[in-house]
Amino acid sequence: MDAQELRTAYVEFFKERGHAQIGSASLVPENDPTVLFTTAGMHPLVPYLLGEKHPMGKRLVNFQKCVRTGDIDEVGDPTHLTFFEMLGNWSLGDYFKEESIEYSRDFLVKGLGLSLDDIAVTVFKGEGGIPRDTETAAIWERMGIPKERIFYYGMEDNWWGPAGLTGPCGPDTEIFYDDGRPACGEGCGPACRCGKYVEIWNNVFMEYYKDEKGDFSPLKQRNVDTGMGLERVLGILQGVGTVYETTLFTGIISKIEEISGREYAGDDVRAFRIIADHVRAATFMLADGVFPARMGAGYIVRRLIRRASRYMSGLGYEENFMGAVADVVIDEYGDAYPELRRNAKAVHRGLDEEEERFRKTLRKGLRRFDALAEEAVGDTLDGEQVFRLFDTFGFPVELTAELARERGKRVDMADFENRFREHQDKSRAGADQTFKGGLADSGEETTKLHTATHLLHAALRELIDPGITQKGSNITAERLRFDFNFDRKITREELDGIEEYVNNIIAKDLPVECREMTLDEATDFGAIGVFGDKYGEVVKVYCIGEYSKELCGGPHVSRTSEIGTFKITKEESSAAGVRRIRAVVGK
Ligand code: SER
Repeated sequence: MDAQELRTAYVEFFKERGHAQIGSASLVPENDPTVLFTTAGMHPLVPYLLGEKHPMGKRLVNFQKCVRTGDIDEVGDPTHLTFFEMLGNWSLGDYFKEESIEYSRDFLVKGLGLSLDDIAVTVFKGEGGIPRDTETAAIWERMGIPKERIFYYGMEDNWWGPAGLTGPCGPDTEIFYDDGRPACGEGCGPACRCGKYVEIWNNVFMEYYKDEKGDFSPLKQRNVDTGMGLERVLGILQGVGTVYETTLFTGIISKIEEISGREYAGDDVRAFRIIADHVRAATFMLADGVFPARMGAGYIVRRLIRRASRYMSGLGYEENFMGAVADVVIDEYGDAYPELRRNAKAVHRGLDEEEERFRKTLRKGLRRFDALAEEAVGDTLDGEQVFRLFDTFGFPVELTAELARERGKRVDMADFENRFREHQDKSRAGADQTFKGGLADSGEETTKLHTATHLLHAALRELIDPGITQKGSNITAERLRFDFNFDRKITREELDGIEEYVNNIIAKDLPVECREMTLDEATDFGAIGVFGDKYGEVVKVYCIGEYSKELCGGPHVSRTSEIGTFKITKEESSAAGVRRIRAVVGK
C-alpha cells in the first residue's frame, strides 16, 4: 500500500460506516488561537467537540496535515518528524467506546490486513479523581486482545488533550504494533522506548473539559477523537525500519542524493533525514502562508530552513537546493493537498530568499563559531560572542547551541537572554533620545498608550495583514509610535477601520489580564511579541479578550475603557518595507 492508498482505504472504511469526509484544514489553526500550528486532526473540530452542531453531521473522517515543533532537535532519529499526517475519525456525541474500538479493530484486521497477535493496547489506569477505564479494557478483551497485551498507564501516557491550554480532553486507549522482538527486560511494555512497540493509533474518549485553573468538568456530550499516524502505519505496511524509508520519502531522498552527490548511507543518514523532514515541513508551511520571520510560526519555518541549509552544506553542497526538493514534495502530495500546487510559487520564493539570506551570513558565522569554540574556557561558550553570532550573523541561538553540543560545549541560555534584553533597551534608548515609554515610565498616559499599542497591533493583523509584526515601538506621554512591516501606504478608509476596531474593543470594557507562563507555553498559547523577549524561564503575556495576546513587560491599564478614545494622527513610511503609525488617546 502506498500513502494515497492508505488515505483512501481509511476514509472509505469510515464512510461505509456512516462518516462524512471533511477536508484537511490549514496548518495555521483558525478556530484555536492558543497554538501556532494544527497539531492533530481534532484541532479544527474543537467547537464541535464542545457541542456546536457540525454541518456534516455527527460522524466525521479525514486525513489532516499536522506539525509538532516540540522535537525539532530530535529529528534525524528513526521516528521523529516535524510534519506528519493524521488519519482520524470522530463521533460528536454519537457512538462511544464500544463502536470506536470495534471500528479500530476491524480496520486494522480487515482494512490493513494486520494480525491481532501483533497488536498491544494501553488503557487509562485512573488518576486525578478520574476512574480506571475498566470498560475499555473489557471491550478490548471481547474484541480479541488477551489480558496480557492490555497495559494500564496513568495521565502521563493515557490521557490526551487539551490541544492548547484549555479545551476538550479525556482518557485514551492507544494501539501499538509489536514488531516481534523480545522484550528488552523486566517492565518492557508499550510505554518503553526500546523500539519493540510502535504507537500507531490513539482513540480518545473526550468527555471532559479542562479549564484555565486546570480543573476538569464533564462535557455536554461524549465524543470520540481518534488519530492514526500515517507515516508510521505506512512504515509497518511496507515492512521498513523507519518512516524515512517509506515510499513517501523515496523521491525526496533521491533528490537530495542527486543534488549533493552523496548517498543516503552511513554517517550521512541523519543529515539526509533532517533535510528531508525540514524541507517537507517548510514546503507545507509556506504553502499555508507562513513565511520566515523573527517570531511565532514564522520563526519555526526560519529555523527549519536554516537547519536544513546547514546540514546540506555539511554534505558539501553550498547552493540553493530547497526549491528542487520542494518540487518533489509538491508532486508527491499535490493530489491529496492541492494547495501545494496552487501556492508553488510562494513556496519557491520563501525557500530561495531564506536560503540566500542565511548563506550570506553562514560562512562568516561558522568561522566565528569555530574560533569561539576553540577559545572557550571550560565547556561554556563566551556569552558576548554567542550574542554577537545571533545579532550580527543571524544565527538562531538554537543553532549555536546545537553546534556547541556537537563539540561537547554548551550555551548559557539565561545569559543570552539577559544580553538580549540589555541590547534591546540600549538600542531603543539610543535610537530615540525622547524614548520614555515602557518600563522606564509608567505614568498614567503612557500606560494607556501601551495598551492601545497592543490593540493597534492586533487591529493591523486582523484587518490589514496577518503577517504584520512589530518593527519598533516608542511611547511618550503624548503619543504612541508604532513601526511594522508592510509594503504600501495604508489608505484613509483602512485607517478609519482600524480606529473603529480599536475603539470598539475599548467600548467593550474588557479586562486586560496578565498571565505568566514559560516560553514554550507562551509559544503554544499563540502569543505574539518581539522575538528576543521570549528568552526566559517565565514570560508575561498580556491578554485582551480573544483580540490580543502579546508578550510584554507591561505596564497596562486594567480595563480597556480606561484608554478613553483612540485616534490615528499620522501614517507614513519609516524604512523600506516598514510603515509607521502615530496615534493618541484621549477622553
Ligand atoms: N487527538 C489525539 C492525538 O493527537 C487523537 O487524534 O493523539
